[in-house]
Amino acid sequence: MNAVAVFPKSRQIKLIDVPEPVLTAPTEVKLRVLEVGVCGTDREICSFTYGSPPPDADHLVIGHESLAEVTEVGSAVTRVRTGDLAVLMVRRPCRHASCLACRSGRQDFCYSGDFTERGINGRDGFLTSFVVDDQAYVNVVPPELREFAVLTEPLTIAEKALSQVWRIQERLPWVAPDRPMSERGHGRRALVLGAGPVGLLGAMTLAAAGFETTVYSRTSGPHRKAELARSFGAEYLAAETHTPEQAARRVGHVDLVYEATGASQIAFQMLPHLGVNGVFVFTGVPGRKGPVELDTDLIMRDLVLQNQVVVGTVNAGRDAYEAAIRQLATFAARWPDALRRLITGRFPMRAFADLLVGPATGIKNVFTIAS
Ligand code: BGC
Ligand code: ZN
Repeated sequence: MNAVAVFPKSRQIKLIDVPEPVLTAPTEVKLRVLEVGVCGTDREICSFTYGSPPPDADHLVIGHESLAEVTEVGSAVTRVRTGDLAVLMVRRPCRHASCLACRSGRQDFCYSGDFTERGINGRDGFLTSFVVDDQAYVNVVPPELREFAVLTEPLTIAEKALSQVWRIQERLPWVAPDRPMSERGHGRRALVLGAGPVGLLGAMTLAAAGFETTVYSRTSGPHRKAELARSFGAEYLAAETHTPEQAARRVGHVDLVYEATGASQIAFQMLPHLGVNGVFVFTGVPGRKGPVELDTDLIMRDLVLQNQVVVGTVNAGRDAYEAAIRQLATFAARWPDALRRLITGRFPMRAFADLLVGPATGIKNVFTIAS
């Protein structure tokens, strides 16, 4: 079967032939890959600035945003059945007995750094025809979400981030964590930095939780991303027309900043505009562009005198996958057109060079492997 793989040593990206995987344990599941989403991480791997092949291999099969269909289950599999649609988890635990996070099934909080990530770090990914995995990493998706389910993995970023925010804000007795998700953000204002798939899915998640949501991004004028944000009730502000300070002033009291640009300068320029008792969530992984100047006295003073929290978050544990699948159902019911417009193109595997190393176009591009 075909697979798309990067060869870091020779700096090549190739369509290769690999053997079809087989079940090797009773708890394993075999799946036919239907779709694979492309994100900035894939493009970094394909520019050889990120990621690593499995130990002893000279190449890495890429692809971590999956949608697949179960074709075979081992004798001890209880979580899924043949024919189920499923999304696979990306991060896998390290082996150290002392890593309490991995030993608790929360490898997204791995202490040792020796975790692996399918399609990214040390483990082959999903941009191929069939994959085998343990049922522990397989999340069933209802068939009615078939059209959108490839967005599950990028949506786990927002789901994990928001679950962290609510845990942090339990420190404020009037923010009732027992309220339904759709009401918790009521009366609160969120500012999302970035209008790529992570930013837009984050903004949708915040809007669905009742936040008054503003998306702040580079491009100005009427365009696809601005229209898309407005279609689910978010305001769109462009960096070309509003400085970070002006954008924050327009929002009013910024209860939450959700960073999804992966550009540290703009993020840290926004940090001084976080509101009282606010939370600033970082989700981006920036490349290194050199030092920037910051008014650290002002930032530190506000952090202390205004009880602010800055938190970083990487996706994701099983709970975030389950939450993302439920959230997709909510989005599909409320804003199906927005989801549709988020997926800007579907391409065959042989278009890999255009999608992975060509100029970045569209919002979320997806490989169709099988239908
Ligand atoms: C993936 C995460 C991964 C991160 C860093 C993201 O694109 O969604 O699963 O942890 O990259 O490698
Ligand atoms: Zn991704």
